[in-house]
Amino acid sequence: MLPTLAATVLFVVVSAALPAARISGCGVSSIVPQIPAGQTNVTFPPNAVPAYITIGVGTQNYTCSDAGTYVYSGALATLYDISCIANGPTPILSIVEYALFKGLTSTFSHDLVEKLLMSSMLKLGEHYFLRNADASISPVFDFTNVLNDTQKFVRARRTGGLTAPDGKRNIDWLQLEKVDGELADTVLRIYTRAGQPPSTCTQGTPEITVPYASQYWFLRSNATDM
Ligand SMILES: *[C@@H]1O[C@H](CO)[C@@H](O)[C@H](O)[C@H]1NC(C)=O
Ligand SMILES: *[C@@H]1O[C@H](CO)[C@@H](O)[C@H](O)[C@H]1NC(C)=O
Ligand SMILES: *[C@@H]1O[C@H](CO)[C@@H](O)[C@H](O)[C@H]1NC(C)=O
Ligand SMILES: *[C@@H]1O[C@H](CO)[C@@H](O)[C@H](O)[C@H]1NC(C)=O
Repeated sequence: MLPTLAATVLFVVVSAALPAARISGCGVSSIVPQIPAGQTNVTFPPNAVPAYITIGVGTQNYTCSDAGTYVYSGALATLYDISCIANGPTPILSIVEYALFKGLTSTFSHDLVEKLLMSSMLKLGEHYFLRNADASISPVFDFTNVLNDTQKFVRARRTGGLTAPDGKRNIDWLQLEKVDGELADTVLRIYTRAGQPPSTCTQGTPEITVPYASQYWFLRSNATDM
């Protein structure tokens, strides 16, 4: 009974939050993200213009080190366009992010979330990692399939990280800069939900995947040709 009740509550809350049910397909160039002031780790560059605003839902991967702690080893997530609600009241965005995250982590609500959100939400692409020649890994955001354009991806590198302002269970907020591709010059990972590994592990145990959701903002420099 409990799952049904929880699913009903989720349904009512999400329905109430989305009277217009339009989530994807709006212009974003004048929207500015809310980022804590008084720090320089994760910032909105002065010459930046948002090109895409998305929510990513998936898993963060970790391997167990010889020291018995988890070390970051990649991620896999699906990215959805949230351009029509990114500018709205923060609660709507939080509810959508929460619903997507819940849909991912609990089987009972997955169908419901799909029905409610996916029909009004455009899947823009995938976030995954590629291994470099030196064995390090690089994050990639890949919209090439949906946008039918082989250059609409970005391989990036991390330039700054900020402890999530809203709780230690959430993975760090990040700023990433382009290495390759034409999707964006800067990527911000902000408003993260969950994704942190347990604090310790038993040496020799296999890689783990931890569910998470996050907003990813794709910014272009105003000097870059669109
Ligand atoms: C780009 O943004 C900077 C900082 O806001 C501004 O000074 C500059 O005029 C802008 N350039 C263009 C081409 O819009
Ligand atoms: C991370 O986990 C996913 C499964 O959730 C897997 O597909 C992916 O290959 C893993 N590794 C890396 C480096 O992302
Ligand atoms: C995708 O792009 C190619 C090359 O520009 C074009 O020939 C093809 O018609 C496009 N396909 C779709 C479905 O738009
Ligand atoms: C900012 O980045 C520095 C260097 O990586 C780090 O030591 C510091 O903890 C970060 N600040 C916050 C608030 O996360």
